[in-house]
Amino acid sequence: MDNTFFAYRDGGLHASEVALDRLAEEIGTPFYCYSGDALEHGYRSFAAALAGLPATICYALKANSNQAVIKTFADLGAGADVVSEGELRRAMAAGVPTEKIVFAGVGKTAAEMIAGLDAGILQFNVESLAELELLSQVASQRGTTAPVAVRVNPDVDAGTLDKITTGRADSKFGIDAGAARDYLRTVKSMPGIRFEGLAVHIGSQLTDIAPYRTAFQRLIALYHELRAAGLPLRRVDLGGGIGISYKHDLQAQFAETEERMQTYAAMVHGLVDGLDADLVFEPGRLLVGNAGLLVTRVLYVKDSDTRRFVIVDAAMNDLIRPSLYDAWHEILPVKAAPEGTALQPVDVVGPVCESTDTFAKQRPLPPLAKGDLLVFSSAGAYSFVMASTYNSRPLPPEVLVRGGRFAVVRERMNYDTMIGQDRLPDWLSDGAAQPTDQASPARALRHAAPAQPIRSAG
Ligand code: LLP
Repeated sequence: MDNTFFAYRDGGLHASEVALDRLAEEIGTPFYCYSGDALEHGYRSFAAALAGLPATICYALKANSNQAVIKTFADLGAGADVVSEGELRRAMAAGVPTEKIVFAGVGKTAAEMIAGLDAGILQFNVESLAELELLSQVASQRGTTAPVAVRVNPDVDAGTLDKITTGRADSKFGIDAGAARDYLRTVKSMPGIRFEGLAVHIGSQLTDIAPYRTAFQRLIALYHELRAAGLPLRRVDLGGGIGISYKHDLQAQFAETEERMQTYAAMVHGLVDGLDADLVFEPGRLLVGNAGLLVTRVLYVKDSDTRRFVIVDAAMNDLIRPSLYDAWHEILPVKAAPEGTALQPVDVVGPVCESTDTFAKQRPLPPLAKGDLLVFSSAGAYSFVMASTYNSRPLPPEVLVRGGRFAVVRERMNYDTMIGQDRLPDWLSDGAAQPTDQASPARALRHAAPAQPIRSAG
C-alpha cells in the first residue's frame, strides 16, 4: 500500500478516492475526516516493525476514541490502553479482547478498578503505593488478584512540549525509580496483587530517540534486578509517545512519521534482545495522528492595519491544540492553488470569543476568499477527543473514508441534544422549559435542594 491517503487529484484534495469538497457539501463544515486506509497502513507498519518480538500493541484510546477507529485496529489484532471506565467500555464495545487491555492512569477510582477486574484485563498500570493498596483491597474483597505493572518514573526529560512531558522527577506520573526499587525488592506479597511487570511512559510527541533509550535502559536494568531478587515479573510495558510529523506536504508527513517509527523500532529491537519478557506498546498519536484532517470553510476575510485575518468556521472548541500547546497544524487549501501562486501571510482564526482562538499567525497561504475550504492536517489524534461545546458550538461530526466509500461515524451534535442535557431545578422550573421529566439529574438536584427551597415546587 502506498502512502497517498490524502492527495490532490483533479485540482482538489481527496481522502483516498473521496473528494473533500464533495464531503463538505454533503456533511457541512467543520468536520473531521479520517482515512481508514491510513489507519490500517499505520497499524500494519508498526506491527511489521516489531515483528519477531513478543509484543502486544495496545492502542491508546485517548488519542481518538471513535468506535470506528477502535474497531479498525481491533480487527487488525490490536489491544487497548485505557485510562478510564469510559475508555474501557469503549474498547470492549468495539470488540477489543479484554486480555489485551491495559488500564493506565494516575487516579483510578475503586469503581474503575472493579470494572477492570470484572472485565479480566491484561494489567493495571499502577502509579502510586496508595493506588496499589486500594487495588489490593478491592481485588481481595472480590476474591481475586489484580495483575499489575508498576509504572516507574525514570526521571528522563523527553525533550517534548513541556505540557506533554511525563517522565521527569517533577511530574505526577509513575513511582520514582528509586522508591519503586526499594519497595519491590522487599515486598514479599500483597494479598490482592500479582506483580507481573514494569511500565514506563515518558511523554508524547517525542521526536528524539535518546530519552527513550535512557528510560528503557533504566527500566530494563530494574527488571533484571527485581527478577534476580525473586519477583516473578514477566512483562515490560514501554508506553507510547512516538512523535509524528506535523509539517511538510501530506505525503512527506507520512514518510517522516514512518522513518521515526522505524528508528524507534530498531532501537527497541536492540535493547530487548535476550530479555525474557512479553512487551506492551501503547501508541496513540503514531497510529491516528496523520490519518485525520479537520475540514473547515472560510467565513470571512478581514483586513486590519497590520494584518489579514482569515476567519474560519472551525474554532478552538473543535481543535484546541494550537490554543493549548501552541501546536502547529499544517493548513492547506482544498482547492489546489495554481502553480506559482504567491503566498500571503495571514492569521487563521475561529469565531470563538477568545484571542487564543487562533490556529496560526502570519501563516503563508495562497489568497483565500469567503467560501473556500481549508484543512488542518495531522488532526487524527488529540483533536476531536479534546473538542468541547464551548460557546455552545455543537461537537463536529467525524467521517471515515475507505477507498471510494465514506461513512459518518459520528453525527454532528444537534442543538436539542446540547441544550437538552441541562436540567432546571425546581425553583426555576415552570414546566415549560423541562425537556424530559424522566429520571434525570433534575430529580437529584431536587433531592439536594435546601430544606427550605427558594420557591416550592408546588
Ligand atoms: N501511554 C500513556 C501512559 C500516556 O499517558 C499516553 C499519552 C500514551 C500512552 C499515548 O501517547 P502517544 O503515543 O499518543 O504519544 N493532548 C496532548 C497529548 C497528551 C498525551 C497523553 N498521554 C496533545 O495533544 O499533544
